[in-house]
Amino acid sequence: MKRFKWLFAALLLILIIGACSNSSDESAKETEGDKPKEEEDSVYPITPDIDSLDPEDPKTEAILYGEEVFNETNVVMPDHVGNELSCQSCHADGGLSVSSSLVGVVADYPQYRPRENVTFTLEDRVNGCMIRSMNGEMMETDSEEMRGLIAYMTFLSEGYEIGTAERPWAAPSNKEEIPEPNVVAGEELYEEKNCLTCHATDGSGTGANTGPALWGENSFNDGAGMGRLTKITGYIQNNMPIGDEYDLTDQEAVDLGAFILMQDRPVFAGHADDFPEMENPPSDIITEERRKAIQEGTFDWSEIEAVKVAE
Ligand code: HEC
Ligand code: HEC
Repeated sequence: MKRFKWLFAALLLILIIGACSNSSDESAKETEGDKPKEEEDSVYPITPDIDSLDPEDPKTEAILYGEEVFNETNVVMPDHVGNELSCQSCHADGGLSVSSSLVGVVADYPQYRPRENVTFTLEDRVNGCMIRSMNGEMMETDSEEMRGLIAYMTFLSEGYEIGTAERPWAAPSNKEEIPEPNVVAGEELYEEKNCLTCHATDGSGTGANTGPALWGENSFNDGAGMGRLTKITGYIQNNMPIGDEYDLTDQEAVDLGAFILMQDRPVFAGHADDFPEMENPPSDIITEERRKAIQEGTFDWSEIEAVKVAE
């Protein structure tokens, strides 16, 4: 029940907004049956509709190109992307899916980022995903691709007021507390829960938008947000396996997350420069050294603050 909490909060917001705007349509939506995923499309105060774009408006072309770059990143920009992922590999449905949603995102920028100790523009943030999640290279700020992505995300944010946007639906997936992982159980679950049908037995994936690479050279590098145990655990629990979301327990999700992160993946070169001003930088980044220790069975999970080791 707890894991639905934020979704219900978002739903409540809709009900309130629905009530205010007299949109009986929205407020009549059923909430019973614990099935928040069926409400996915309705959690947004304003839902972007790409079909509503005016084809005569010259801006539309940039937005549509941005959508293409977002959904087919590895195909459109092979020179910049160092793996086989698209932005959609994590921000599903073109950034519209409630988990990892980018709806309203522009209203939250610029933003101070402790990891880099810099106030980030949205372009900086995209380039952060480029060098980490995409294991690639930064894009030129004035490139057609960056312009497209910014135009697209601005379109996703139309009607959301800068600086005041509350995005309860975009609550990050990270979990504050996770049980101690069991990677042997994780390996079994990887088969049992059918992860391998879409992501392949060796984790190399079946395609950026059908089952992206979970580890190996075509996956995200270990400087990515997804390379943190709390984040991948929350992400898996909220999104996977597709068709049976919200079905995994905390233990199952962390077992799977740890099993995935213990496998070899590209190394991020800039770890040493991350979180320069933070007294307590996150303790759940699974680096190469830790992967080795996990593989050898010598890793002490209590090094990760969020892990609650059983007595
Ligand atoms: C491997 C998974 C992955 C891929 C691929 C990925 N992202 Fe992300 N992205 C994340 C995660 C996880 C976060 C949240 C990170 C955090 O909490 O620090 C995030 C955050 C963001 C944010 C900030 C959202 C906010 O609410 O402030 C933006 C913007 C973004 N991504 C854009 C992109 C774009 C554009 C691409 C493609 C070029 C991309 N991402 C590819 C995982 C990914
Ligand atoms: C029916 C196919 C399917 C199944 C089954 C499935 N996934 Fe996925 N997975 C996807 C797709 C497609 C994406 C891209 C994002 C999206 O569309 O939701 C994805 C994205 C991911 C990501 C983030 C992207 C990346 O490259 O790391 C992780 C982690 C993940 N899946 C883990 C799992 C785990 C663990 C299981 C089993 C519990 C699982 N998936 C089962 C299709 C599937």
